[in-house]
Parts: sequence; structure tokens; C-alpha cells
Amino acid sequence: ARAPMIAPSILSADFARLAEEAAAVPGADWLHVDVMDGHFVPNLTLGLPVVEALERATAIPLDCHLMINDPDRWAPGYAEAGSRNVTVHAEAAHDPRKVSRDIRAAGALAGLSIKPGTPLEDWIEVLRDYDTLLVMSVEPGFGGQKFMPEVLDKVRTARRLVDTGHLNVLVEIDGGISRDTVEQAAEAGVDCFVAGSAVYGADDPEQALEALRGQAAR
Ligand code: DX5
Ligand code: ZN
Repeated sequence: ARAPMIAPSILSADFARLAEEAAAVPGADWLHVDVMDGHFVPNLTLGLPVVEALERATAIPLDCHLMINDPDRWAPGYAEAGSRNVTVHAEAAHDPRKVSRDIRAAGALAGLSIKPGTPLEDWIEVLRDYDTLLVMSVEPGFGGQKFMPEVLDKVRTARRLVDTGHLNVLVEIDGGISRDTVEQAAEAGVDCFVAGSAVYGADDPEQALEALRGQAAR
């Protein structure tokens, strides 16, 4: 069986104490960083200076999720900052193949994300140039929303394409992952689980993370 990866989302952490909040989840495989520009999504969070500071403050690999317009221009900077994975939205990228090349050339894995209403079929060819697929299981923009089980069909399709050798991407899911939903996502074939409120909303974030990992592995 695949070893499930857990990526706590610092969107649900205390932004005034980001270094401590990263230190509160030493078992995290990646630390998920939601970059929102107030245009691609109706919320504004943080940008490159904060990611650069966080990169210096933690040894956990950063998983930057860019919910921004014109990622073609900005994504390589997040790779240069030292992120492990930089994900752009298919709906926002002008030239997704070039973005992937630029991210990889700057030393990071390249991720492609699709919103709940975006069909996977339209992006399978482009995905051949990517390392990770981030399936959104809520409308991007805010933490603490309800999981949308209808996106699991896309996960199953991606899993099948990966397992048959037709795709070589890590399948990641983001939005509403909790003790109530992680098992269905795992059954559908997710490799990496982003969890914001389920980890940072818990009294003990590390324990919550390991509980999710245990459920995902069954
Ligand atoms: C939402 C963000 C998510 C968010 C998930 O647009 O992309 O990463 O932090 O938060 P939860 O796990 O609370 O749904
Ligand atoms: Zn995210």
C-alpha cells in the first residue's frame, strides 16, 4: 500500500506565529501554503516574502498552492524560494506547459490544480508535464468548508491513469479533509491529503495529523 502523505495547511494556523505553528506539526510530510491574491479567489492571504521567511523558519518541505491570476509570472519565484512543490491552477495559467518547465527549472516539483467544476479530461495531456495533481474538494478561497464527494470520481480516474502508467503524478486532495472524509478520499486513491482546520483546529495538531494518517492508511 502507498504510505499516505499529510500536508497541514497553515491557512488554518495563527498567521502571527507561523514558525511555531510549523513546529507544531513535526510529522508533516509537506506544509501546505495557500497563496491567494483576492482576484482568482475572493480572499487574500500571503505572498512570496512570507513564503521566503517560512522557508527559512522550518525544515518541512513547503507545498505552495497558488490561487492567483497569472501564475505564469509568479510561480517560478516560489520555486526559487525553495518550495518542494509549486501548484498553479489550470483555470488561471496562460501557458501551463511553460509554467511547469519554469517551476522545474527553478528546482521544485510542478503541480496542477483543478477546481471542483473543472473536468480532469480536459487536462490529462497537460498533466504529463506535471509532477502533482491537486484535486480541489471545495471551491478554493477559504478553509473550513464542506467536503464535496462528487470530486472523488476525478480522483479515481487519476488513480487509474497513474496505476496503468498513463500518468506519472502524485494525487493530492485539498478541502474538507477530516476524520469523517479522509477514508473515502483514501479509498478513491489519494496519495497526499491537505488538511487545514482538521489539523490546526485540533487541541493537538500533531496528534490530529497522525490520526488522519492512520485512517488514510487503512
Ligand atoms: C482552500 C485551501 C485549502 C484550505 C483547506 O482554498 O486551498 O488548502 O486550507 O482547509 P480545510 O482543510 O479546513 O478545508
Ligand atoms: Zn490549498
